Amino acid sequence: MSHPNPHIDKVSILGSETIILGFHIFDYVLRDTLSNFKASTYVVITDTNLEKLYLDRFTKTFHKISQEIAAATGAALPRLLTYVISPGEESKSRAVKGEIEDYFLSQGCTRDTLVFAMGGGVIGDLVGFVAATFMRGIPFVQVPTTLLAMVDSSIGGKTAIDTPEAKNSIGAFWQPKRIFIDLAVLETLPEREFVNGMAEVIKTAAIWNHDDFVLLENGAEAIRDAVLKPVRNVEFQGATLETRTTAQQLLLQVVMASVAVKSYVVTHDERETGMRGLLNFGHSIGHAIEGLVTPKLLHGECVAIGMIKEAEIARHCGFLSQVAVGRLTRCIQAYGLPVTMEEKFVKNYIGNQYCSVDELMRILRVDKKNVGSQKRIVMLSAIGKTLEQKPSNISDDLIRKCLAASTVVHPRPVNLPPVTLSPPGSKSISNRALVLAALGQGTCRLTGLLHSDDTQVMLTALAKLGAATFEWENNGETLVVHGNGGKMHIPDSELYLGNAGTAARFLTTVSVLVPPSADPAQKTILTGNARMKQRPIAPLVDALTANGSVLKYAEAQGCLPLEVTPFSHGLAGGEIQLAASISSQYVSSILLCAPYATKEPVTLVLTGGQVISQPYIDMTIAMMKSFGVTVEVLPNNTYRIPQGSYINPETYLVEADASSATYPLAIAAITGTTCTVPNIGSASLQGDAGFAVNVLRPMGCTVVQTETSTTVTGPPIGTLKALPHIDMETMTDAFLTASVLAAVTQPTTPGGNNVTKISGIANQRVKECNRIAAMMHELGKFGVTTSEFDDGIIVHGHDIASLTPPKEGVHCYDDHRVAMSFSVLANVVPGGTIIREKKCVEKTWPMWWDDLESKLGGRTSDVDLGPPQEHHDYEVKSGSSGKKTAGSWANGDATIVVIGMRGAGKTSMGRYAARTLKRPFEDVDQYFERTLSTTIPEFIKEHGWPAFREQEAKVLAELLEKHPKSHIISCGGGIVETASSREAFKKYIAQGGIVLHLVRNINEIEAYLNKDTTRPMYGESMRDVWARREAWYRECCNFEFVVAGQQLKGIEAEDAKEWALVESNLGRFLRVITQSGSRGQKRVSRAHVAAKPTFFLSLTFPDISPALPHLSKLTLGSDAIELRVDLLKSPSALISFRDHVAQQVSLLRRHSELPILYTVRSVSQGGQWPDNDVEGMVTLLKDGLQWGVEYLDVEIGLPRSKIDEVLAQKGNTLIVASWHDCRGTVAWSSEAMEAQYKLAASISPDVIKLIGTAKSMKDNFECSEFAERHTTKADDLPLISMNMGAQGQLSRVLNNYLTPVTHKLLPVKAAPGQLDAREILLARNVIGLLPAKQFYLFGTPIKQSLSPLMHNTSFQSLGLPYNYGLHETATVDESVVAKMRAPEFGGASVTIPHKIEIMSKLDEITEEAKAIGAVNTVIPVLGDNKETILVGDNTDWLGIKHQIQRHLSTTSTVQPEQMKGLVIGAGGTSRAALYALHRLGVQEISIFNRTLVKAQSVADSFKDLFTVKVIGSSELLKSSESSSDFDLIVSTVPGTIESEAMFDESIFGQVGKKGVAVELAYTPRFTRFLKLAGQAGWATVEGGEVLIEQGGWQAQKWVGRRWDLESVQVQMDLVQAGRV
Ligand SMILES: NC(=O)c1ccc[n+]([C@@H]2O[C@H](COP(=O)([O-])OP(=O)(O)OC[C@H]3O[C@@H](n4cnc5c(N)ncnc54)[C@H](O)[C@@H]3O)[C@@H](O)[C@H]2O)c1
Ligand SMILES: [Zn+2]
Repeated sequence: MSHPNPHIDKVSILGSETIILGFHIFDYVLRDTLSNFKASTYVVITDTNLEKLYLDRFTKTFHKISQEIAAATGAALPRLLTYVISPGEESKSRAVKGEIEDYFLSQGCTRDTLVFAMGGGVIGDLVGFVAATFMRGIPFVQVPTTLLAMVDSSIGGKTAIDTPEAKNSIGAFWQPKRIFIDLAVLETLPEREFVNGMAEVIKTAAIWNHDDFVLLENGAEAIRDAVLKPVRNVEFQGATLETRTTAQQLLLQVVMASVAVKSYVVTHDERETGMRGLLNFGHSIGHAIEGLVTPKLLHGECVAIGMIKEAEIARHCGFLSQVAVGRLTRCIQAYGLPVTMEEKFVKNYIGNQYCSVDELMRILRVDKKNVGSQKRIVMLSAIGKTLEQKPSNISDDLIRKCLAASTVVHPRPVNLPPVTLSPPGSKSISNRALVLAALGQGTCRLTGLLHSDDTQVMLTALAKLGAATFEWENNGETLVVHGNGGKMHIPDSELYLGNAGTAARFLTTVSVLVPPSADPAQKTILTGNARMKQRPIAPLVDALTANGSVLKYAEAQGCLPLEVTPFSHGLAGGEIQLAASISSQYVSSILLCAPYATKEPVTLVLTGGQVISQPYIDMTIAMMKSFGVTVEVLPNNTYRIPQGSYINPETYLVEADASSATYPLAIAAITGTTCTVPNIGSASLQGDAGFAVNVLRPMGCTVVQTETSTTVTGPPIGTLKALPHIDMETMTDAFLTASVLAAVTQPTTPGGNNVTKISGIANQRVKECNRIAAMMHELGKFGVTTSEFDDGIIVHGHDIASLTPPKEGVHCYDDHRVAMSFSVLANVVPGGTIIREKKCVEKTWPMWWDDLESKLGGRTSDVDLGPPQEHHDYEVKSGSSGKKTAGSWANGDATIVVIGMRGAGKTSMGRYAARTLKRPFEDVDQYFERTLSTTIPEFIKEHGWPAFREQEAKVLAELLEKHPKSHIISCGGGIVETASSREAFKKYIAQGGIVLHLVRNINEIEAYLNKDTTRPMYGESMRDVWARREAWYRECCNFEFVVAGQQLKGIEAEDAKEWALVESNLGRFLRVITQSGSRGQKRVSRAHVAAKPTFFLSLTFPDISPALPHLSKLTLGSDAIELRVDLLKSPSALISFRDHVAQQVSLLRRHSELPILYTVRSVSQGGQWPDNDVEGMVTLLKDGLQWGVEYLDVEIGLPRSKIDEVLAQKGNTLIVASWHDCRGTVAWSSEAMEAQYKLAASISPDVIKLIGTAKSMKDNFECSEFAERHTTKADDLPLISMNMGAQGQLSRVLNNYLTPVTHKLLPVKAAPGQLDAREILLARNVIGLLPAKQFYLFGTPIKQSLSPLMHNTSFQSLGLPYNYGLHETATVDESVVAKMRAPEFGGASVTIPHKIEIMSKLDEITEEAKAIGAVNTVIPVLGDNKETILVGDNTDWLGIKHQIQRHLSTTSTVQPEQMKGLVIGAGGTSRAALYALHRLGVQEISIFNRTLVKAQSVADSFKDLFTVKVIGSSELLKSSESSSDFDLIVSTVPGTIESEAMFDESIFGQVGKKGVAVELAYTPRFTRFLKLAGQAGWATVEGGEVLIEQGGWQAQKWVGRRWDLESVQVQMDLVQAGRV
């Protein structure tokens, strides 16, 4: 089909018709531009999104039309250039502007160039600015493609780019030659972008034109459909008027209206001096919100919320009616835009981020248009009208009040004159009146109608049914109903009733009255939201069905949606039976419609025993009478309703909601003043209307009531009387009001009872919340005593003067009645009462706070308590939702099932796991072979692969059943091929089990397996097998360990070391995931005094591999390593990002013992992870947990549901709840920061991390004070708190726990202002936070000791101002004690001969030192009362144990438990050696010494702990015959002793045995013992190595961290070299 000639509309701006609108108008765009604006070069600039969609069409059309024109005019063909940039706000930058200009220059563009800006506002602003300055200005044309650009940014000539400091900070006014609005392109716009633009459309109508607003109000569905669900019957639908759909026409109409307004305003105020400011409606507050949440929320979304807030301000000032606010709210919502910061939509995008009033005000303040303590804000005065022709000045106080989520109600001034107030209309009466007037004949003016969602839903539905037409009069005070006398038609679309219960019930019978239309398939459909779809309707539907109507449940039985089949007879009539014990609304529904029965009059018989809520039935009957129909009430719950039609009275005053009326009346009662409610009185049928007479009067008030009004005068303040017992069954909702009054009563008689007992209110336990519990809890906060009983509550009167308002405020449980009743009490409570969640009153009285102040004379002010709290009184919530706890999800002692590819190391790693966790090991394959008495190859040969897989699955199930706890089970590689096995794994995980996937690089596996020929092959490459199974492994596991065995060389001895490393990494990983040991993982302790402060190193590499050799240098002095996952980049396209991250984790673990802190930092939190990729971040975080990292950073700005998702899998990983204020908008002293802290704490993390940005020194002190406040109590969480920025460096110095640090060698700092650990320690030393310390070696002779060298080297490299010196004494004398008790004492090593004697001078001895009977380390520890306690410890055994562990042969499957150990010598160190073997787990330990008695006495000293066998030389040497006797031998005899006679090589057993030999002597370096061991092929440990190892442990105990082993080693080697 050729392109039809499009129908276009034009709008004029600045005096000419340059705005052109239509559908599919590219042809027109180019013809118009090319003929009217001649240029030699045309450039289209667009973004990559639009390039894909439209660029091709645009350029083709360009060429077609330019050729046509050239052919017709003979002019030269112009050239067309295209330039495409990336989409997004980031492109609105100097850089991109420069690129475009360079491109223009490179293409030889001159002034004879015209630019098309084809795109959203970003393109329009940027390209417009380029055009404005290129060659001092070239012509440009706007082709806006987003709704926002069409109605807003393309019009008006404002062009701009952003700078890092501020949005739109550089720009120019430059008018486009044309603005072409092709509405057809909106069809490809993402929904959220379309909705975003609607905010501007609604805004424009709201300030300018009531009719436009009505179009928007009523057309929401159609307008959304025109864009989001377009009809496409023909190509170029809508281009011509013939093909344009109604929805398209409507869309055009509203867009054009908006465009016209903006054009008019621009025309009359081009440079924004006055009127143009009106377009800022919603933008003052909207911008402030945007400033805090961008880019998470879009501009229009923020403006939508801003409009409501600004409208509320106008309402508060009395400029705007609640009807208008309500209409604006519903209209905004109808397009899918948010209206509050609290709603789900917003939370979804911004997570838990809280925008405090302070922050919002701060941004409002910097708005250039504002002055002093007033802000310029557009005040609506009605829909379509503003108060002034420009923004109005509004005081800060007022704005704060309207922004705050909580309010403070102050005591009401005394002796106020009488007041009169009409509370909102009764909902029940409003809904009934609407139905009656709509079904009635003639016009009725309803006043006092409640404006709520419910009534709005009812109105809309009645209008859709054609039951009546409605108009508002009196600025929304009066609703004029033109009733249709019961005539209706089937609505065009379904009736959506939200969760409005009354509407749903009443309208069900109303729908039955609707006659059929010409199209027999048409039906009336009633539907609602998810909650509505669960609410019962069956009794009503049953009754109507029995009467011959046809109603079908479209989804769940018994609930909406309902499909009502129309009949010409409508409601048949006759006897209708209805079960009325569930809801009186069913009864009212039938009663209201009964007069319209067609065949015979209705006789309604209520069945099922007790009728509930009879008063409501009476109310319906009474109201029907007012509309001319008299119901005959017969005995036995039977009603006869005559046929006929309602006759509308001219006016109908809707009675006030009686429960609402209790609040103003109660204020009069409690404050001793007078209040009149003019729209409720003695004639009222509402139960709560009895409140004044039955409750207030007996309490001592004067009550004057007419049929329709009530006046209450309270007794003098403080003299209300207690009511010994009051039954409130007929007015249950009013019990909350009564309770607050009862809280301030006096005894009835002097000295008498001062207790009010309220009964008959049991149903209040299942209202919005458990109201009885709520009242008790909240009253208790004031000091009021209460108790409850089955049927009610007991309140003890309290003296007003001594009531204490709760600091944390009254929690309202989102219950309007709780909020309003406590605001009554607050009128007399001294000091001001905070009421939280003040918005909850909107359910029944949206203007309550305004009315309290302006009509009742109350006083309120604002307060911001931070984000809403997860309330602890959850029992108060009715039908408690049961808070999900993120518990440890993998059960520590659950059996670990190991899966993975063949060759990944499942068996050897599994064995190691078994060994280190001390658990039995099972191999599925072996178990298979064992129980089926066959080999697997045989089985396969005989039965085939499928049978094998099936059998394998059975074996797995059997094993899991048999050993669900404390085992290690290793599986065959192919087990995941069977679906039933996969299911078994998943089920096991769901039960809390651990399935560990061992991952190993497929190249390594191939290399390894090619050597092995003993196993069945697949006839398929390993690579293909892996490709097939990878996803299965992933779905079947909950933990993943990457075997980082890259260094395997195929040389056995070298590889053994490599495997040992992998194993020890696995060990660490297992400790994290199983909680073995003392909660297993390496936590960075915060209790250790000496280790203060602690640090973590932030790694900022895209790939850490090249840095690994230097990792120990980099991490020197750090206590943990942070892996910044967001900065990682996969080095090659062949490695997926996830695999890259997994590998980085395993590499880090392999190269450092420090715990890993795993962080994915988002852009808005100072990192690189895109803010909008929440899913990606959550997945990565969960991966981190799978990899068993020690710490996981979780940003608290994430949506709570996402955080919960992560926490649900946290196992034993510690959680750091983090928040970064990168823009420095939150002060440490502010409530907002406290709020962030609470928010962080609310996810129950292990560490809280709050980072600010310092703008001055003061911020650092405030930060430090903040930290002090939050780290005083023993159960306070560890806190990391500091400031970014150069100004914030001091806060890094002051922070005590896990300060992030950098290192000189790192390419970039992770955050501005970061310091390295040494710098921090140095600074702490300078400012006195880190005093110098003195350490000693006690003993004699010690001149030759290497200890000072070791320790001083270590202190120096760590940057600690410590010194280690010698103190040589013959005995442990006074001088030693004096040194240890000196304030600067940091610790001591103790050597021969003082190791025993020193014990008597110390305060405490550790278990280990006691067992060994010697102290080699003294540690001063701060006691509870800050006194110094000297602790004696022993690290000799640690040195030995760890050295043995490092050298244990890994190929051996023997566990230390099965090894035999020998200690040679019986001197002091032999005891440490024996103890080390014992702690290693060795069961059979022997000692050999030339003097047997000495050996015996050493052995005896351990007899309470373990057995040591004493052997003589004959036995020792016999060991050669018994072969492989000892696996571990420690020699403790001085190296200089001639020991040839003592032993020979035979003690090392048979050739080929590989044990570990440890020498404790270190001079000479290579003793005979070591030489023999080496020759026998044993692993050898030199004395120097043990010395360094134990020294390292000593340092650990003194200063809280290991030393720089490398530099110590270098120093030692040098010294040794000099000595040997
Ligand atoms: N100059 C002014 O008076 C003025 C007024 C308001 C806003 N602005 C500026 O406008 C910018 C925002 O503009 P925006 O909301 O149009 O966002 P935008 O330009 O970023 O566009 C939004 C997204 O929609 C895509 N897109 C645009 N049209 C599309 C289509 N038809 N089909 C599919 N995808 C499409 C874009 O590629 C982009 O990813 C801001 O920079 C703001 O400062 C300027
Ligand atoms: Zn805007």
